[in-house]
Amino acid sequence: MEIRRLYNHEKLPMSLLLLADPSQKLIEEYVNRGECFILEKNKEIIGVYVLLQTRPETVELINLAVSESEQGKGIGKKLILDAIHRSKEKGYKTMEIGTGNSSVGQLALYQKCGFRITGVDMDFFTRHYVEHIFENGIWCRDMIRLSQDLR
Ligand code: COA
Repeated sequence: MEIRRLYNHEKLPMSLLLLADPSQKLIEEYVNRGECFILEKNKEIIGVYVLLQTRPETVELINLAVSESEQGKGIGKKLILDAIHRSKEKGYKTMEIGTGNSSVGQLALYQKCGFRITGVDMDFFTRHYVEHIFENGIWCRDMIRLSQDLR
């Protein structure tokens, strides 16, 4: 299974991207500004992530998603390690990632992959999303910001 760049002429795997972010409008906006990478199995896209430069030497890993039937098999971790490797090769010094206060599994995964919590963007989700998001019985209101040094 190979992870490769999705080219501009290729169709976005929107149903997969929507697993990580309920707003198609926001997805289309940041995918246009960043680079989308995919993992295929039997010609079907089963994993995706987007890399977006946010500041000089800083890249953000956004919209990480694995298709539901393939979750829990180590693919999410493989995608994150691939993103870290590519970003180091490109000379980025810092990688950032953000997730909801209710995304307990994601917070575990990101810390297992070397990210550390750097801050909280209070009310990010209530400001940017019209509908209320609930996960693990928790209201998702704040974005937990994480970062790792790539040097
Ligand atoms: N508590 C502790 N560890 C957890 C956990 C939890 N609740 N949930 C996951 N993990 C750990 C696993 O144990 C595993 O660790 P290990 O390698 O030490 O065993 C690790 O996270 C990686 O799991 P993996 O199988 O690689 O994850 P995945 O392929 O299921 O992908 C997501 C993870 C988040 C990408 C996937 O579940 C997904 O697409 N979810 C929907 C979209 C989404 O929420 N994206 C993130 C937006 S911020």
